[in-house]
Amino acid sequence: MFISPITVGCRTRCCRNAHSFPSVHFDGESRIFGFLGHTPRSDHPRRPKMRVLITGGAGFIGSHLAGDLLDLGHTVDVIDDLSTGSMDNIQHLTDNPNFSVEIDTIANVEKLEKMVAKVDLVYHLAAAVGVQLVVERPLYTIEANIMGTKYVLEACDKYKTKVVIASTSEVFGKSLDVPFREDGDVLLGPTTCSRWSYAASKMVDEFLALAFYQERKLPAIVVRLFNTVGPKQTGRYGMVIPNFVRQALEGESITVFGDGTQSRCFCHVEDVCRALVAIVDKDEAYGQVYNLGTTEEVTINDLATRVIALSGSTSEIKYVPFAEAYSADFEDIARRKPDNTKIGNLLGWAPQNNLDQILTAVIDHERSKQPN
Ligand SMILES: NC(=O)c1ccc[n+]([C@@H]2O[C@H](COP(=O)([O-])OP(=O)(O)OC[C@H]3O[C@@H](n4cnc5c(N)ncnc54)[C@H](O)[C@@H]3O)[C@@H](O)[C@H]2O)c1
Repeated sequence: MFISPITVGCRTRCCRNAHSFPSVHFDGESRIFGFLGHTPRSDHPRRPKMRVLITGGAGFIGSHLAGDLLDLGHTVDVIDDLSTGSMDNIQHLTDNPNFSVEIDTIANVEKLEKMVAKVDLVYHLAAAVGVQLVVERPLYTIEANIMGTKYVLEACDKYKTKVVIASTSEVFGKSLDVPFREDGDVLLGPTTCSRWSYAASKMVDEFLALAFYQERKLPAIVVRLFNTVGPKQTGRYGMVIPNFVRQALEGESITVFGDGTQSRCFCHVEDVCRALVAIVDKDEAYGQVYNLGTTEEVTINDLATRVIALSGSTSEIKYVPFAEAYSADFEDIARRKPDNTKIGNLLGWAPQNNLDQILTAVIDHERSKQPN
């Protein structure tokens, strides 16, 4: 799978100062949708309204989060280079006067700093994401994730702006110490296996955020997201649920990679965003790392069976070896289950959607996109 070079951004004005990541090209004019220039408002009787920047806000999680923050009356700015995100994800928000989006890379540090200067809070979600992308483009993954996070933290540090860094359960690697606790050991595979570059780059992001907190007193929170799913997630970069649902609806074989005994815990993006919104109000969360995911565990075999049943499909299951799906040196993770006690204690948070509800929502969403 290859991601086409993107052709948005600004060569003349913006990219003079952009630190480019490999294989990502910018030309044409930078585009702004919506309205810029708002100041934070505090017209809510209980909670002051904020102006929030979401990096990667045209992505799957970022677009849901943007919608939730706007619903709460906050102002939302987005910067996204559309490398894996899409305008389709945020089109419904662009008429909202409290929403704006810049199509550009966070490597354009001049623009990033200007955007950070205007906001009260940053959610840093922009990253190279998806197993397939990571395996095929390790250099891009490493640079985009590590340098991108460094740019965001430096910009936030300049204004001491609160920042939430999206990390991943991948950092636990092959650890057998399940369920994973935030303070548990991690176990990555060898550097010759490119999939671990994603976990390693996100781990450096975590170290960076914690170092900025410790040495520069930057109010930063690290959230380790476990598999986050729901309507609008794309299957293009190897995400399992959208792929299974599309295959089931089209009557194709459901392709299970490996023997299907590996298990995952899939959390609804609505539940994840609820926690992301709430966590920034907790002073004790800054300087901390939190797992964020559900504990409902399912094997990939069982997931395929449930997708077939819930969609009324006649698809069969086809097994594809990992070596064929990804690369000869690919290593999978057998189980990935969070201990979510820490965030539960902090926020009183627990997921409200179970797997069947999630699958039904995704199936309904995908069906609604199909031609009649
Ligand atoms: N979805 C999950 O299951 C999951 C699990 C663990 C962690 N995460 C993390 O959550 C975050 C969001 O993931 P997602 O699932 O919404 O993926 P996504 O691919 O939909 O979102 C990432 C967004 O970042 C944008 N982006 C990438 N590089 C950029 C750059 N240099 N400048 C500007 N924008 C850039 C992409 O275009 C995309 O819109 C990521 O940091 C990811 O690592 C997600």
